[in-house]
Amino acid sequence: MSITKAIFPVAGLGTRFLPATKAQPKEMLTVVDKPLIQYAVEEAYDAGIREMIFVTGRHKRAIEDHFDTAFELEYELEQAGKADLLKLVHSIKPSDMECVFVRQPKSLGLGHAVLCGERLVRGEPFAVLLADDLMVGEPSVLKQMVEQYKDWRASILAVQEVPAEQTRRYGIVAGTAVNERLLDVARIVEKPAPDVAPSRLGVAGRYILTPGVFDEIRAQPRGVGGEIQLTDGIAGLLRREKVFAFQYEGKRYDCGSKEGFLEANVELALKHPQVGAWFRQYLKDLSLQ
Ligand code: UTP
Repeated sequence: MSITKAIFPVAGLGTRFLPATKAQPKEMLTVVDKPLIQYAVEEAYDAGIREMIFVTGRHKRAIEDHFDTAFELEYELEQAGKADLLKLVHSIKPSDMECVFVRQPKSLGLGHAVLCGERLVRGEPFAVLLADDLMVGEPSVLKQMVEQYKDWRASILAVQEVPAEQTRRYGIVAGTAVNERLLDVARIVEKPAPDVAPSRLGVAGRYILTPGVFDEIRAQPRGVGGEIQLTDGIAGLLRREKVFAFQYEGKRYDCGSKEGFLEANVELALKHPQVGAWFRQYLKDLSLQ
């Protein structure tokens, strides 16, 4: 069975990005000219996924509108003969892509948000993408993971090596190496202090999970920070099934933090076909001042 569905949990409060996130979800923050959620949806589409499940919170409108038809805008662009812009607007939601929205009534944590998508994944393995982790990879990071899934038919977590002083920000995994990129996970711990962290491999915001994870999430008491943690659900799952951690090839920008968001904007602007050359020159001139 291939992976056809992805859950995008977009119901967090985004407190690290206030005031920008007071009236809009942080997943609508733009890196250069595209909202974070669109980068994540494009990554899922590129990995062959066609059913996008958004778990939304109180500001659901902006995301729903972004993936809906914008009739007036499209009409105006058509009348003005702006075919390129019209094509760009249409490309946000290709015709073979389906978007479904489900509400998380309260921000009870990432595990709880994923659980809200349970009925919609209908007992199939599925992907989870956290749009505030912007991933740049060739092939895309989720595509690399889907390839791994085809070989192993088990849950796959994207991981990267993190500095020792940052283990408190991640789910940290430990286990046995299967090959240079893959680990058979024996333990996963949410946000450990550096001295008790079982390794320095931190989970990034991309997962392929088997549906068994739902029962495990449900069985968990509230974890770190009083939230229902996805990590705790995965810890339950790996007592029953194999779970692999995959060191992807690519770069992750933590756009849930101001620093990561700024890095992403600068680096993606430098690569942008329209403004890249201008921006490089601008940065040079600025550094000479
Ligand atoms: P974060 O841990 O970054 O939390 O969530 P947050 O609330 O969005 O942001 P801060 O820490 O207050 O700034 C990781 C991902 O899980 C989603 C978020 O939208 C984000 O994509 N999430 C988190 C939910 O959908 N629901 C929740 O209850 C919590």
